[in-house]
Amino acid sequence: MFSRFKKPESGPAPTGLKPVTSSGPVAPPAAPAPKPVTLSARPMASAPPPKTAAETMASDKEKKRKDKIMELKVELHKRLLDNLNLSALEKASEASLKLEIASITAEALDEMSVALNTQDRQVLHQELYDEVMGLGPLEALLKDDTVNDILVNGPKRIFVERGGKLSLTDITFKDERHLLRIIDKIVSAVGRRVDESNPYCDARLADGSRFNCMVPPVAVDGSLVSIRKFKKDKLGIADLVRFGAFTEEMAAYLQAAVATRLNVIVSGGTGSGKTTTLNALSSFIDNSERILTIEDTAELQLQQVHVGRMESRPPNVEGKGAVTQRDCLRNALRMRPDRIIVGETRGEEVIDMLQAMNTGHDGSMTTIHANSARDGISRLENMIAMSGIDMPIKAMRSQISSAVNLIVQASRLQDGSRRMVSITEITGMEGEVISMQEIFRYERLGVEGNGKIIGRFNATGIRSAYSDRFRQWGYDLPASIYEPIG
Ligand SMILES: Nc1ncnc2c1ncn2[C@@H]1O[C@H](COP(=O)(O)OP(=O)(O)OP(=O)(O)O)[C@@H](O)[C@H]1O
Ligand SMILES: [Mg+2]
Repeated sequence: MFSRFKKPESGPAPTGLKPVTSSGPVAPPAAPAPKPVTLSARPMASAPPPKTAAETMASDKEKKRKDKIMELKVELHKRLLDNLNLSALEKASEASLKLEIASITAEALDEMSVALNTQDRQVLHQELYDEVMGLGPLEALLKDDTVNDILVNGPKRIFVERGGKLSLTDITFKDERHLLRIIDKIVSAVGRRVDESNPYCDARLADGSRFNCMVPPVAVDGSLVSIRKFKKDKLGIADLVRFGAFTEEMAAYLQAAVATRLNVIVSGGTGSGKTTTLNALSSFIDNSERILTIEDTAELQLQQVHVGRMESRPPNVEGKGAVTQRDCLRNALRMRPDRIIVGETRGEEVIDMLQAMNTGHDGSMTTIHANSARDGISRLENMIAMSGIDMPIKAMRSQISSAVNLIVQASRLQDGSRRMVSITEITGMEGEVISMQEIFRYERLGVEGNGKIIGRFNATGIRSAYSDRFRQWGYDLPASIYEPIG
């Protein structure tokens, strides 16, 4: 067989591209048979009508066809790895490699006396290409722009999140070994390793997507993978207004808050849109300011000219070389920033963040994991306590209340929509309690038959405590934006 990328018949093993071996780092447990899963938030009104005999036959046929393609893929993948010169692949163009795969496949199918129609053949070629060059079954989902999150629960269950809703896909890995091989490919590309002694890992994919995995035996039913897809074009303020995440009035208020250098915390649950909101809010920062960003996985995409980005680093295999968010933050304070943006405050860095907000780096922003503004404050208090700083509760609260001006609460509602459900100002202390006032909120009014939530944004009628500041800085917001409707 002629192949430009064909391995030399004899001679040294190819170097360069890491050969993907079929044995994973951990012996896979027997994968349990997938159970049917229903993810619908609401109970189904009635059971689906029973399948007709013709429908059952058609779905059996489809399943057989998929099984056959899967078997072929495994065999062909083996042959490809045996035949391709892996070190030459790095320089190969996509088109020439696809041609090569097509020719090796055609030869192998001939040999195995298997006939496939054009469509199946094309699918097979693409999947083989993804297997050799990319991340196998995950590749198609990574390319699908409508997918936000990819969640793998063992080899046979891959879920995706589209439009805020989770659904099970019909894409699967062949078995746990296959899944482990792809995980290995991802983590070894960033110089990490996962195995029994080190069973989980955070990484960033080549396209910027955030990746986390946990492998057996800690992951009981097969490896767990979560991927937050990286969006090249992050949603901006105008997009968020268009999608109903908040109103134009709220956007005008937020613009004044960010431009006049209030310290802002975006709070929310997992996947509620915190990072997206933080990124959008950053667009209100003046182009002349020096901004330093600190993240565990670099996701923010600021548009300003003067931006310094930092990414924390976990320890290496020997447990050395860790650079924490706190290390980055402390160093950032020596780098003359006008503003500091921490992607997510989740630990000991909280104290440095609050100090930075209090001491000349006003206009700083971060996100926290909390379900309401009040919860957000408790979370900050807990983080301070957990960081081992022995501070009386009153001192802690006074530190928080003088550092944080605004808490923006993001939420993913049951219908999948992501909304800014509350904007709350911190106005000071009353005794030992931090006083707050809500300026805007999302009012839930009901739910449509299809599960879509009916609601509206409303002002609470309370005028911003920063109105004078806004005016002095040239952001003269009309009093009407604080007036409630209805
Ligand atoms: N208002 C919105 N409308 C539609 N999609 C949105 C909206 N806000 C965020 N998204 C999308 O939802 C996904 C999750 O958003 P994001 O990463 O900002 O959440 P997060 O709260 O930071 O999540 P995590 O807790 O995992 O860090 C992203 O793919 C983002 O593009
Ligand atoms: Mg985030």
